[in-house]
Amino acid sequence: MPVTTIAWHDNKIRLIDQTRLPTELFYLEIDEVETLLEAIVKLRVRGAPAIGVAAAFGVLLGLRQFDDSTSRTVFFTELESLIRRIKNTRPTAINLTWALNCMNKIAQRYQQESITIIKEKMLQQAQQIYQDDQNANRKLAKIGSSLIPDDAQIITHCNTGALATVDYGTALGTVFSAHAAGKKLHLWVDETRPLLQGARLNMWELQNEGIDCTLICDNMAAFVMAQHKIDLCIVGADRIVANGDTANKIGTYSLAVLAKFHQIPFYIAAPTNTFDLTLSQGDKIPIENRGAEEITNGFGRRTTPEGSKVFSPAFDITPAELITAIITEKGVIRPPFAVAIRLQLKKP
Ligand code: MRU
Repeated sequence: MPVTTIAWHDNKIRLIDQTRLPTELFYLEIDEVETLLEAIVKLRVRGAPAIGVAAAFGVLLGLRQFDDSTSRTVFFTELESLIRRIKNTRPTAINLTWALNCMNKIAQRYQQESITIIKEKMLQQAQQIYQDDQNANRKLAKIGSSLIPDDAQIITHCNTGALATVDYGTALGTVFSAHAAGKKLHLWVDETRPLLQGARLNMWELQNEGIDCTLICDNMAAFVMAQHKIDLCIVGADRIVANGDTANKIGTYSLAVLAKFHQIPFYIAAPTNTFDLTLSQGDKIPIENRGAEEITNGFGRRTTPEGSKVFSPAFDITPAELITAIITEKGVIRPPFAVAIRLQLKKP
């Protein structure tokens, strides 16, 4: 079984420190919101669904000193500032904002109750977000696995497995599900520069599951597509907007362009809380920029002269026209996306 990435235990968040993988499987116990903020920014916990869950429990950490002796004004002022601080850690993945909004809504709904009751309701909400993530992943993984033929050659970019979610995963979850159904598979794993989520995390998860996989540098994907019969590309998402444009790890867009050229189906797999229908198209999605040192010193030593200018967007936008279908826990969405997305999201 794939690992459990994050859990709420003894009023603490227990999570795998993903920066230590693949060489060390180390669990962090977090009981301070400041430590959680650092963990999200440093990508100790990462992947859109996982940071959504971390954010929900992070709100509880930030409120833990309050009880019925706290004034309502102090409680709600602190809640607002807490939500703002957690939201600001990583701007692109909508799951983070979505989870924080869920937590805020519950607090507002029970605002007339005692602080103890409000906090109890918020804990239940966070646990619901946690369970929903587990359920959605398994459902979408099963739905997505039907799109994977036996003997498939698959290419993927960035980590979307158990480590990017509570457990199991989205895009990689479809692969786990197809593998569990007895299909023979081979994965081409993009290294995913600059932070190597493919090399460090996908390879670790796929090897643990006994799935045949080969690591390539991101710039080898075109050659692999030209040389090998790649059956499909499958990746995750950090935000999918109303017209289907999708933000995902930097390099996803290039892979989608390559897939189009080589006539390879390009699938996105994501739970429905990754959709943001308030935005009409992808150019409105805020894109996180990362620090230069992740590129200049990414391999533990300088790889470029001092003073080099660096541009490091963490995500890019894949235009909807390059996407064959979007796999969700409610079913597979196919073009024309604008209409199909709205219909699908309305389903219970
Ligand atoms: O910067 P990261 O590692 O958090 O980026 C993660 C991705 O881009 C994933 O593909 C996306 O969050 C989906 S995870 C199921």
